[in-house]
Amino acid sequence: MQPPVAARPVRTTLPARYYTDPAHFRREVEHFFFTKWICAGRADQIPNRGDYFLRDVLGESIIVVRDDQPSTALAPGGSIHAMFNVCRHRGTRICETACGTFHGSIQCSYHAWTYDLNGRLIGAPHMDDVQGFDKRDFPLKRVGCEVWDGHIFINIAGAADPLRTQIGPLMEQFRPWRMEELRLVHRSVDEVKANWKLIIQNYNECLHCPVLHPLLNQMHHYLGAANAPSEATYCGGTMGFKEGIETLSRDGKLRRQYLPGLGAEEKGLVSYYSLYPNMLLTLHPDYMVTVTLWPKAVDRTELICEWHFHRDEIARPDFEFQDAIDFWEVTNREDWHISELSQAGISSRAYQPGPYSNRELLLWDFDQVVLRELGESS
Ligand code: FES
Ligand SMILES: [Fe+2]
Repeated sequence: MQPPVAARPVRTTLPARYYTDPAHFRREVEHFFFTKWICAGRADQIPNRGDYFLRDVLGESIIVVRDDQPSTALAPGGSIHAMFNVCRHRGTRICETACGTFHGSIQCSYHAWTYDLNGRLIGAPHMDDVQGFDKRDFPLKRVGCEVWDGHIFINIAGAADPLRTQIGPLMEQFRPWRMEELRLVHRSVDEVKANWKLIIQNYNECLHCPVLHPLLNQMHHYLGAANAPSEATYCGGTMGFKEGIETLSRDGKLRRQYLPGLGAEEKGLVSYYSLYPNMLLTLHPDYMVTVTLWPKAVDRTELICEWHFHRDEIARPDFEFQDAIDFWEVTNREDWHISELSQAGISSRAYQPGPYSNRELLLWDFDQVVLRELGESS
């Protein structure tokens, strides 16, 4: 007779405070958004010297700018830098406009301290007669910045381990998609009334697909995910298509060429990866969708969804993309709304942690990442 199999304790969702307590939220974002690498945007948003955009990370304004240094092996995305938007004179926020072009230098509008595109202080009026003052001592404070296949990552702690230590194996795994050749075509920005982790939780499972996503459910079999083992810094998997489906579009039809680096297997699936803490990367046979998460409060998250297509396709006179926009606009709306309902329910006094099914273990794994990071147990 077989010995009885010991029953594993039921794995449950996290207590409410992880989703509702502002003090907990502050601690959590300090760990995840101020010390980890976070995806800030795409290199093709700032193609020319002096082009920049600002990123607000819970009140910290960061300038991401391209200077004119040539690309090197160490800085393969060209010379894109990130620095605090804080003047070294009396601390004023320097730049207010969300994106644009600096013409050779960055100047504070208060007393005209001026920095080059690298952040070096090059002009400081009325400081010449200050004994001991040396411009070299007052560059804009740098933020870690690395570019991976066109994605700009920043690290506000600055002195972090390289990006590779956070997402290393994905760098090789996603080479066939040649993401650096893709260009941003469309963006939508939504503020969702849900904790940032609920957005990740929702993305990490498809059990809800038949119930919530009539359109998406026509494309994949909802139990067909091939998940990779969870890692401490990311998780994900792939899903193949149902018979007759070629990509995620309004009708499942392909209206563009396959991305040029893909093999037969990759042409038949979608990769869904959560790169903790702020990037959802969805790779289709013919385009890429990224969602970046920007927590605003314990129960509020801004989501920037962007659609990227191959530059050669974009150049074609008959380039079509609306089918892909429509597909994800519909699906995102369903996901963002259910995440808001999750937040609302978890905020109720009636909420208590509920049991995960065996097909929701990526979510439980993510909970453990959060707990480990905070040195807690639920
Ligand atoms: S605070 Fe920026 S120049 Fe004075
Ligand atoms: Fe969904």
